[in-house]
Amino acid sequence: MTDYSNDIILTGDRPTGPLHLGHFAGSLANRLALQGQCRRQFVLIADLQALTDNAGDAGRVAQNVLEVALDYLAVGLDPTLSPFVLQSGVPELSDLTMLYLNVVTVARLERNPTVKAEIQQRGFARDIPAGFLCYPVSQAADITAFKATLVPVGDDQLSMVEQTNEIAFRINRLAGRDVLPEAKALLSTMPRLPGIDGKAKASKSLGNAINLSASSEEIARAVQMMFTDPGHLRVSDPGRAEGHAVFAYLDAFDPDRAAVEELRSHYRRGGLGDGALKSRLNDILQALLEPVRRRRKQFARDPAYVMRLIGEGTATAREVAARTLAEVRGVFGLAKIEPLPVDRKRLSATW
Ligand code: TRP
Repeated sequence: MTDYSNDIILTGDRPTGPLHLGHFAGSLANRLALQGQCRRQFVLIADLQALTDNAGDAGRVAQNVLEVALDYLAVGLDPTLSPFVLQSGVPELSDLTMLYLNVVTVARLERNPTVKAEIQQRGFARDIPAGFLCYPVSQAADITAFKATLVPVGDDQLSMVEQTNEIAFRINRLAGRDVLPEAKALLSTMPRLPGIDGKAKASKSLGNAINLSASSEEIARAVQMMFTDPGHLRVSDPGRAEGHAVFAYLDAFDPDRAAVEELRSHYRRGGLGDGALKSRLNDILQALLEPVRRRRKQFARDPAYVMRLIGEGTATAREVAARTLAEVRGVFGLAKIEPLPVDRKRLSATW
């Protein structure tokens, strides 16, 4: 087991909807495993990033802040070990973004493969919000503000960590010393979870994911609908396990690896029906999500308490981010002004 005791971890999620099993396999499981094992872990609820493609949907992002925090608590993230941070509550992150924009070219922004794919997916064509194109820079601010050395993410976020390190490198070169550390992506050992429809990615926008808060009936229905091998018509037929959503989910969540391998070869030989596989997966997902749902319900009874937890985490984060911002301002040689009290008498004439 790798020693993470010196690592500072930062990860986050956009609060655009409920978190699902794809998030769990992609990064929540890693965050849980690392909580308490590392020097510090901050978990960012990236509401400003969520706005970059949801600006016309006022209220949706704000509403989902609580939902995402409930999902965190439900899976077992402990805000005393892993403070929950609201991105828009840390204005230092926006200040850093503004400074970093000076060391990034538009061409580089346009080359980011994840952003490129998202532009396609959202059909922005020529009408790309500038904030959207620049969100990797804001993400670099998130990561570097805490001097994070480890970022547990899904593979679609590798390009963000890469861009973060380019920015850190430029800042360090300007400074002539190492102000910002290098961040390493920590990829999940689980392969990317496909959608229940067999599409490459489980995602809330595609509507093919199983939410962490799904009811028992919703889980059962989703498993029933899962994409299998369309050529596997009779139980006795040999089946294809590749691209088979049920096998992908068993690979991710069935703790009995040997049993899954056995099922896979049985399926390939023929004689194993999709019904049996689905029934096994349903049992596993029900057992995984039942306690999650129960904890979520408990915390959901006191939303004010949950918002207070976010408030505390955000205040802690501001202290850390303010120190980094002061250093980066120094690198750019910005003038310092002392915050003086306003002289009301002198200003009232002009105001
Ligand atoms: N981009 C991430 C997502 O799409 C969310 C995020 C924002 C993030 N800031 C971060 C992830 C910093 C890791 C580190 O879900």
